[in-house]
Amino acid sequence: MLRRLHPDQPASFAFTAANAAWARAQMTKFPEGRQASAIIPLLWRAQEQEGWLTRPAIEHIADMLGMAYIRALEVATFYFMFQLQPVGSVAHIQVCGTLSCMICGAEDLIGVCQDKIAPNAHELSADGRFSWEEVECLGSCANAPMAQIGKDYYEDLTAARLAEIIDELAAGKVPVPGPQNGRYAAEPLKGLTSLKGHESGRTRYNASAELATTLGDTVKRIDGSEVPLITPWLGKVAKPAKTPAKPAAPKAEAPLVTESKPQTLAKPRKGGADDLKRIGGVGPKLEGLLNDLGFWHFDQIAAWTPAEIAWVDSRLKFKGRIEREDWVAQAAALAKG
Ligand code: FES
Repeated sequence: MLRRLHPDQPASFAFTAANAAWARAQMTKFPEGRQASAIIPLLWRAQEQEGWLTRPAIEHIADMLGMAYIRALEVATFYFMFQLQPVGSVAHIQVCGTLSCMICGAEDLIGVCQDKIAPNAHELSADGRFSWEEVECLGSCANAPMAQIGKDYYEDLTAARLAEIIDELAAGKVPVPGPQNGRYAAEPLKGLTSLKGHESGRTRYNASAELATTLGDTVKRIDGSEVPLITPWLGKVAKPAKTPAKPAAPKAEAPLVTESKPQTLAKPRKGGADDLKRIGGVGPKLEGLLNDLGFWHFDQIAAWTPAEIAWVDSRLKFKGRIEREDWVAQAAALAKG
């Protein structure tokens, strides 16, 4: 399936103060220079905040993590968990369409979605409250056919039961997740044949369904109010930030190389600025920052000394990036044409 960015995008994105604090805390899990490892949780948090993953959100997170936009886009477009277009405000229904589910009636479930929500996957219902899509195996094949709705699995579905579940969600109820045919979990349909003792102390539902029922929030999105944010690796509880997300402040360390300001230009030379985005790792935002600092041409960057790289590096706030992506060599090759 083609996974592309939605044609209609908002102008900007910013984490809420609570989500920004959470995001910055996630970034501290990784060693200096490895903040890109936080890409999935940050993208997920942005999606939970907005409902879907917008281009400004992806780029904002790429900037926070010091990543080229294309690297963040690669992650966002690879995983089905990331919704690249608006989803229903009440629920987005992901129907498994892989082998076991397809054999057991996934097409009927898709038919219900088409009738009750919208004819096409990723299309919003007329009231904007529901959307649906077909996804690959969700790992619940023994309870086929199934669908994921919000955070929970609805298993052993029939078309009639899925239609009821959608109606219940529309009415503001939270249907009990898990098997919908009376099965406890994934035991044989005709009942347990071994380990029968497990039945004696069992809860009303299996552990997943029991927890989901206790929380009662199948389709609730994380909204940043889930404080306190525990960051045991920092030895403290992180407090929500008061300001929107900004790249994590570099730790005060003695610079290895003394900084020295390179020659800058107030504006491009006659003939216009070079397209600095041709340097691998430089996106539109970084190009803008470079221009603001007074760099417009490949030959300027090609001439940077280590001390000058340190000067630029500290102002771009992406420590080590210039050398990691070898901007100087790239710029020198581009300057030669
Ligand atoms: S085939 Fe549907 S969950 Fe695996």
